[in-house]
Amino acid sequence: MNTAIVGLQWGDEGKGKIIDILAQKSDYIVRYQGGNNAGHTVVVKDKEFIFHLIPSGILHKGKTCVIANGVVVDPESLLSEIEYLKNNGLKLEANLKISQICHIIMPYHRILDKLRESKRTYKIGTTGRGIGPCYVDKISRCGIRAVDLLNPQVFKEKLEDNLKEKNEVFKKVYNHPGFDFKELYLEYLDYGRRISKYISNTMLLLQEAVKKNKSILFEGAQGTFLDIDFGTYPFVTSSNTTSGGICNGTGLSPGAVGKVIGAVKAYTTRVGEGPFPTEFKDALSNIIREKGREFGATTGRPRRCGWFDAVLVKHAVGLSSARQVAIMKLDVLDNLKEILVCVSYKYKGKIFREFPYDFEVIANAEPVYKIFKGWGKDSSTVRKFGKLPKNALNYLLGLEDLISAKISIVSVGSGRAETIFR
Ligand code: GDP
Ligand code: IMO
Ligand code: MG
Repeated sequence: MNTAIVGLQWGDEGKGKIIDILAQKSDYIVRYQGGNNAGHTVVVKDKEFIFHLIPSGILHKGKTCVIANGVVVDPESLLSEIEYLKNNGLKLEANLKISQICHIIMPYHRILDKLRESKRTYKIGTTGRGIGPCYVDKISRCGIRAVDLLNPQVFKEKLEDNLKEKNEVFKKVYNHPGFDFKELYLEYLDYGRRISKYISNTMLLLQEAVKKNKSILFEGAQGTFLDIDFGTYPFVTSSNTTSGGICNGTGLSPGAVGKVIGAVKAYTTRVGEGPFPTEFKDALSNIIREKGREFGATTGRPRRCGWFDAVLVKHAVGLSSARQVAIMKLDVLDNLKEILVCVSYKYKGKIFREFPYDFEVIANAEPVYKIFKGWGKDSSTVRKFGKLPKNALNYLLGLEDLISAKISIVSVGSGRAETIFR
């Protein structure tokens, strides 16, 4: 059966680690949304790999890794990731496939991302990778796709048209000199040439895989509350991060999605701006950030940290039909005396048991907590669910109850072996 891994919080739940493990038993590993705003970490022995665009299954031989049509591709970033993997001894030619209709991130997207951010009253704290502006062009029907880079005449016309309008906007609105056509044209034609061997009709490839009963692992990027529709809008990314994004992002129908496993940290983190009701307001923030090494895998920014929010995760479970969850980074909580879990929010005397979309409420909500006892023991050496410390089990079973999903995986360290399958 095909499996999807989606993040149920604000990203960085540990999706990369789970993808790497499940990739062993999959034929295809498919990224379907987002771009190089993602940073997915895989730790193999002492070596840490961080993937931004290339699926996290690439370390396993003989797997087909697909960057499907829903992903926005920055060719410069992609080529440096390919180079990095080649320098680590990986052969990618036969394994990596990029959809011909992926939209391409251009330098004007990256610069506009930063310029717009600098002018906003309420900053989003984007990764500055040009993700939002690229998706904007896709929707406004002026985007440039991978296949366009392979056709010099089509690319010329599209780029000319884009620069005619964009250079005016850059000059008049942002006091930026704009972009030289010839320079961009030649640079991106060259990128097109260099990535052409990976570009193909991945929709057909994946449909064939489904027909042949091959097993597909869908790799979500970001997390549910960064979803453009269901997240803490406008503090979100510009794609559908929930399992619903898989169909449009790959060219497969809902029946092909199979099982959805939600990745969720045993606590909560968020990078960038926006509401975060359970965020620590005390020294715990630093303690968890240090122990969990909570620094962005893409931008290196310190991640904001807080307690597990069951209101949030339960909503995410519903949005992606994630009947199973992987609880990540349980070990980070090992030394805490008590562990809090948010079970509802309170605002102006009213209790909210469901996730509130009214910005005033979510931005000011006071969490109502259930308190669990800590276990004070090292969980990182445990390999069987039943062998976890008693209070750790109480915590996990308590979470299961609160979020209405079954815990099928518990992660107690960043390495492959530090994983408990239930
Ligand atoms: P992703 O974006 O969802 O793939 O997650 P990131 O890679 O951005 O962040 C997860 C971080 O936690 C990475 O540094 C992982 O190596 C690390 N990690 C994953 N699982 C565990 C775990 O169970 N325990 C600990 N201590 N670290 C983990
Ligand atoms: P992975 O896949 C955590 C956040 C940014 C910002 C917001 C919008 O590693 O979980 P964008 O550049 O996408 O327009 O920024 O989304 N963000 C992430 N936070 N993990 C990610 O990816 C993220 N990708 C984007 O910090 O708040
Ligand atoms: Mg990440």
